[in-house]
Amino acid sequence: MTEKKDDKMEKIVSLCKRRGFVFQGSDIYGGLRGTWDYGPLGVALNKNIKREWWKMFVDDREDMYGLDAAIIMNSKVWEASGHTGAGFADPMVEDLETKERFRADHLLKDNDIDAEGMSLEEIDALIAEKGIKSPKGNDLSQARQFNLMFESRIGATAGDEGKVYLRPETAQGIFVNFKNVLDSMSPKMPFGIAQVGKAFRNEIAPREFLFRVREFEQMEIEYFVKESEWEVEFEKLRLDIVAWNKHLGLSDENVREFEVPENDLAHYSKRTIDFEYNYPGKGFDELAGFAYRTDHDLKNHMEASGTTMEYIEPDGSRFIPHVLEPSFGLGRALTAVLCEAYTEDEMNGEVRTYLKLPVHLAPYRVAVSPLLKNKPQLVEKAREVFSVLKKEYGNVAWDDNGNVGKRYRRQDEIGTPYCVVIDFDTLGEENPDTKDTVTIRHRDTGEQERVSISDLIEKLK
Ligand code: GAP
Repeated sequence: MTEKKDDKMEKIVSLCKRRGFVFQGSDIYGGLRGTWDYGPLGVALNKNIKREWWKMFVDDREDMYGLDAAIIMNSKVWEASGHTGAGFADPMVEDLETKERFRADHLLKDNDIDAEGMSLEEIDALIAEKGIKSPKGNDLSQARQFNLMFESRIGATAGDEGKVYLRPETAQGIFVNFKNVLDSMSPKMPFGIAQVGKAFRNEIAPREFLFRVREFEQMEIEYFVKESEWEVEFEKLRLDIVAWNKHLGLSDENVREFEVPENDLAHYSKRTIDFEYNYPGKGFDELAGFAYRTDHDLKNHMEASGTTMEYIEPDGSRFIPHVLEPSFGLGRALTAVLCEAYTEDEMNGEVRTYLKLPVHLAPYRVAVSPLLKNKPQLVEKAREVFSVLKKEYGNVAWDDNGNVGKRYRRQDEIGTPYCVVIDFDTLGEENPDTKDTVTIRHRDTGEQERVSISDLIEKLK
């Protein structure tokens, strides 16, 4: 099937809305930029991704511990981590006519200039030299740093005293609980602490669907190692991330690793790999990050809080652990999964759209239908089958809308791997041999097979 590449993303965004995966945030009030709401199927897909992530990175391992820290933390956390400073700000310019704000580095990138690491003065000079204007063609203001943290106030305190921030990453919740986990769980080196939760960034220019938003979920691990072992452990975790991307169903040709060059590394990082996905119409861009953060964070929190962050070996020797950080954005993972799964083919002479989702991620594992919804015997039998499957799998859909063909199309579009149909043969009135058998229709091939109800659960595994 040939198609313009960027059409594909538009089709996916439209499918997401039409089928209840993702809606624009505050939709009925005209939306709110950079926010998206997950509908029933988006919630199901997200939940499956998070469950599989937790299983792979926490439950299936002996060296990982879970955490769920508060979103609002003491402001001192963000001073110690450096987030209140220039390190967590983006260069911003304003359209002098419309007052719209833009990321200066993005405007330069549109002109094939990489502004990574440039000072505000260098950015201003380039904008002047190249005559770069706003997208509306107007002059731009001088660049200034715009901090990405959302501010709020806690309690009834006035002034700066009650100032708090919504966390811009889950990672710091892990660092500030490092000592609590050490004291309560006595973990052996190396070990990791994992957290899944919301993060907030007041992005200047939220864009590209779920790619750059102001409220999103992260799945992060801080993995604590001895300094002398960071390279060995880095390679092991790198392979775990590769395995995770495969588990999401992402194909090798659509995922690549970008080794961040030394001069672009954050000041605390000695090595960072960005895992990039080939988003339709956009090309390769960051899906997840993997950084060696040295002992930067624990050291800073130790100095700022006065709490020791040392690990004590059984022989009494003490050291501040070094940290490896795999950091995943849930929205970007969901987008990549949808892009990878979105397929168009031809079936019965018509174009068909379906999501080729892996069974462990599909919002519904199976849909159950009576062939006709006005035949009580069929409905009763279908309800029986539905109850059995629902009890076993949970994520089972009841679908009796429209004719069977329409149901298949709908379930194809939301990625349901199997449809089970209860028909007259199931009742066995004409042929006792087919009594208590049903049709399973397979999403990817459209093929159908008859199986006995007693074998259904095994078959759908
Ligand atoms: N603790 C490290 C950290 O937060 P990051 O590269 O800033 O590193 C990690 O973010 C991941 O979070 C990214 O790879 C991306 O998947 C996701 N992410 C970051 N900012 C985002 C945004 N504005 N919208 C959607 N996802 C975002």
